[in-house]
Amino acid sequence: MTALFTPFSLKDVTLRNRIAVPPMCQYSADDGLTNDWHQVHYPALARGGAGLVIVEATAVSPEGRITPGCLGLWNDEQAAGLARIAAGIKAAGAVPGIQIAHAGRKASANKPWEGDDHIAADDPRSWQTIAPSAVAFGANLPQVPKAMTLDDIERVKADFVASAQRARDAGFQWLELHFAHGYLAQSFFNVDANVRDDAYGGDYAGRSRFMLETLAAVRAVWPEHLPLTARFGVIEYDGRDEQTLAESIDVTRAMHQGGLDLLNVSVGFSTPNGNVPWGTPFLAPIAERVRREAALPVASSWGIDAAEVANRVVADQQMDLVMIGRAFLANPHYAAQMAAELKVERPTWLLPAPYAHWLEKYR
Ligand code: FNR
Repeated sequence: MTALFTPFSLKDVTLRNRIAVPPMCQYSADDGLTNDWHQVHYPALARGGAGLVIVEATAVSPEGRITPGCLGLWNDEQAAGLARIAAGIKAAGAVPGIQIAHAGRKASANKPWEGDDHIAADDPRSWQTIAPSAVAFGANLPQVPKAMTLDDIERVKADFVASAQRARDAGFQWLELHFAHGYLAQSFFNVDANVRDDAYGGDYAGRSRFMLETLAAVRAVWPEHLPLTARFGVIEYDGRDEQTLAESIDVTRAMHQGGLDLLNVSVGFSTPNGNVPWGTPFLAPIAERVRREAALPVASSWGIDAAEVANRVVADQQMDLVMIGRAFLANPHYAAQMAAELKVERPTWLLPAPYAHWLEKYR
């Protein structure tokens, strides 16, 4: 059987294939609430045949949103809207996942198509960002965050726990903690963003503490039989890559011991000056190394979207799942298209019967 279309089981969940739609912010919410856009968008993606669809970075608190248009999961009304989305994804044959997130010093930003920069401090839509230390990201996000107190750290961990409980009760079967992309958890790990001299900074153990404690707290409420995963930037492309990668693999091992079931391997994006080698499936060998050295299942993405390449990275055991994003925005039935390209038997039947029956005879 084609590697990409082999089912994948993790805990009590089985995905129909190795294709996952990764979290992709829609920047289309008000007050963190889903609306008609999200209700249509997510089930439509799930209909296209992926095994897993992960709802976008969903903030654990108002100040954890990247933009005022980001989804939230800090109240029950938000959870009710998300429960309908989880049901819609499930009805379309995919496993419903959600990424819960805190944007840290990258929060309080304008939508990408409205500037992608920090909202001006005197604009009433802006808010005070928080981070491990009062160090700005720079470039388009110059505002200096407030350094978190120990109370702030406890509160954010509790927010992650409360959001995980709401996600569980809303029917999500796959949870991804957003520990990547220069947001709050990633900045605790990053040596430039975190200059604390207490137990949450300094050496490798200190910089890992926030992630490990958040994971442990969430693990205590997230059902044991469901996958608990994280997205983590294991490399920054900032010239210190071997050291960052070695430390990242160590913390991945510790997270695995702490109950993490899979790592979504990504880039740190902690600096605006990273030299990311776009244009190739550059993370595939990195994902393979994390998979081998930390000995846990991994997923990855960034340009791993051509059917042949996606199939090969799974066949070669570089990753267990392939996260395919923009190709699904271009064509929500992209999984069925890949199935046809890879000559999977009766590829239209990856789609629901009311489409599959007719499309099998069409052309
Ligand atoms: C993203 N990405 C992203 N990543 C993440 O961890 N949480 C998120 O909410 C988002 N939001 C988001 C929005 C949009 C519009 C895009 C295009 C991307 C990154 C995304 O999950 C994925 O890693 C990238 O799109 C790379 O994969 P592709 O598109 O090359 O297959």
